[in-house]
Amino acid sequence: MLYARGKEYISKFASCTESGLQCSVWFLPTTRPLGGVKSLSAVRWPLPKYDLKVLFLGFLHPPATAFSSRPFPVSILSLQAISGSMVFFRSVAALSKLRSRLAHQSTSLRSIRWLQVQSTSDLDLHAQLKDMIPEQQECLKKLKAEHGKVQLGNITLDMVISGMRGMTGLLWETSLLDPDEGIRFRGLSIPECQKLLPAASSGGEPLPEGLLWLLLTGKVPNKEQVDGLSAELQSRAKVPEHVFRAIDALPVTAHPMTQFASGVMALQVESEFQKAYEKGMPKTMFWEPTYEDSMNLIARLPTVASYVYRRIYKDGQIIPADSSLDYAANFSHMLGFDDPKMLELMRLYVTIHSDHEGGNVSAHTAHLVGSALSDPYLSFAAALNGLAGPLHGLANQEVLLWIESLVKECGEDITTDQLKDYVWKTLKSGKVVPGYGHGVLRKTDPRYTCQREFALKHLPDDPFFKLVSKLYEVVPPILTDLGKVKNPWPNVDAHSGVLLKHFGLSEARYFTVLFGVSRSIGIGSQLIWDRALGLPLERPKSVTMDWLRTYCTKAT
Ligand SMILES: CC(C)(COP(=O)(O)OP(=O)(O)OC[C@H]1O[C@@H](n2cnc3c(N)ncnc32)[C@H](O)[C@@H]1OP(=O)(O)O)[C@@H](O)C(=O)NCCC(=O)NCCS
Repeated sequence: MLYARGKEYISKFASCTESGLQCSVWFLPTTRPLGGVKSLSAVRWPLPKYDLKVLFLGFLHPPATAFSSRPFPVSILSLQAISGSMVFFRSVAALSKLRSRLAHQSTSLRSIRWLQVQSTSDLDLHAQLKDMIPEQQECLKKLKAEHGKVQLGNITLDMVISGMRGMTGLLWETSLLDPDEGIRFRGLSIPECQKLLPAASSGGEPLPEGLLWLLLTGKVPNKEQVDGLSAELQSRAKVPEHVFRAIDALPVTAHPMTQFASGVMALQVESEFQKAYEKGMPKTMFWEPTYEDSMNLIARLPTVASYVYRRIYKDGQIIPADSSLDYAANFSHMLGFDDPKMLELMRLYVTIHSDHEGGNVSAHTAHLVGSALSDPYLSFAAALNGLAGPLHGLANQEVLLWIESLVKECGEDITTDQLKDYVWKTLKSGKVVPGYGHGVLRKTDPRYTCQREFALKHLPDDPFFKLVSKLYEVVPPILTDLGKVKNPWPNVDAHSGVLLKHFGLSEARYFTVLFGVSRSIGIGSQLIWDRALGLPLERPKSVTMDWLRTYCTKAT
């Protein structure tokens, strides 16, 4: 019988490194320390040098409050008895699978504690990917071999001339969009991510580093993994001086997205992928420098983005990074906003804007450009230029400017009839109502809903939030009346601006840059998988109107 006590247990366990295996112990779903440890020194741990993820079930224990003060017995005898045998490894594999399933449902399973023995590679994202990639490559190969000729749908002329709506034509692993339900990141909805991903403080918004881990591996990380990733991003965050000088070469009046994209292009000179390609790296290895570039890019963007903000709006007074903060909080800090609620907003913002499957303009652009083996910087800069369009990422800017001009025209105490008139005036002038409608979604965007919930919790009396709420009642029936709008409901951009404005970030022209920083997480993750899976050059067929006419005449 063995007794465990939090850190002591971990360090003792970690010292059991026979055969080079580093071990640590923690408990899910809570990280409360265990009770007292006697000694682990007598424990022999004859495990081979495997990248093991070992879990032992069945540590049902008394309630956590009583638990922390009491010794907690852990039977290791059975482990000793079976270690080294195949039975053990098979049990490990089965338990590991079971644990992953339960981890997804874990919040309600408070009475179950897991003892997880893991190798150092469990804390290393790169090592995890290295393990996963051969398996995923096999999956893709098998899929192609077994189902390569299965039809996924019919292409109609409408689809060809209507922006390829509804045409399935891309492989995108990190997220999937359902028209009614909204986005799922590796199978998890936004509310599920809010519950399961580690937060800065209990019950808080998810840390974007956790989402990055999830997008890359498909697994929900624990806090230790997320903290490790935060530190890794910090260690990669140094931006070379020439990047700032490249931005400085532009007039300060240039649109923030132009300055930001130029900064990204200037970052490209450090591309590891480009260097490796020039040296003749074989294509089976491409994912490695893509990983380096994507991680460096994600890590460096907050510094570049905040430089643009401070340059344009704060007389160039730069705020240095604070290494004690997580990714999103540090970004907010460098922008000049330290209110703890704003830090929470930034964590939520960066999480929910990160990925929206592969067909949207920015994601698709990065995927397309990357398919030519352009490195992640080149691919992401291209994506940013797509994001800068008003029908895509620039809509967040448009929404706040539109609401501000509404307030200027009618005042803050605006009646429902005045609102309706304003919406109709916008439509009659040939413009779209920004923040409403979507190419795929057919219901209210869950990214809108979670921002609304944030507002209800933190700023219920904000006059601009109240206006956004009123618009939610007024706009959908009007767009429905138009008869042609497929989705009259609000999207993510209808809400983000008023939240940022509430905390003082009110420069609407800057908003799309925030979106861009977040989008690097989804795009960077998928680019790594694009190269890992060896996805080929993207090259769909195009046809002329004449070709279509001739083809359709023959077909009918
Ligand atoms: C997002 C968007 C570009 C999707 O376009 P789409 O897939 O072509 O949308 P639909 O199929 O519903 O468009 C059908 C018609 O309704 C119009 N429509 C769609 N959303 C509209 C809106 N919010 N306001 C006014 N008209 C709209 C389209 O412009 C199109 O008109 P047309 O036939 O005269 O060209 C579109 O809804 C839009 O422009 N929204 C406002 C901008 C915005 O919020 N963008 C951010 C998206 S996350």
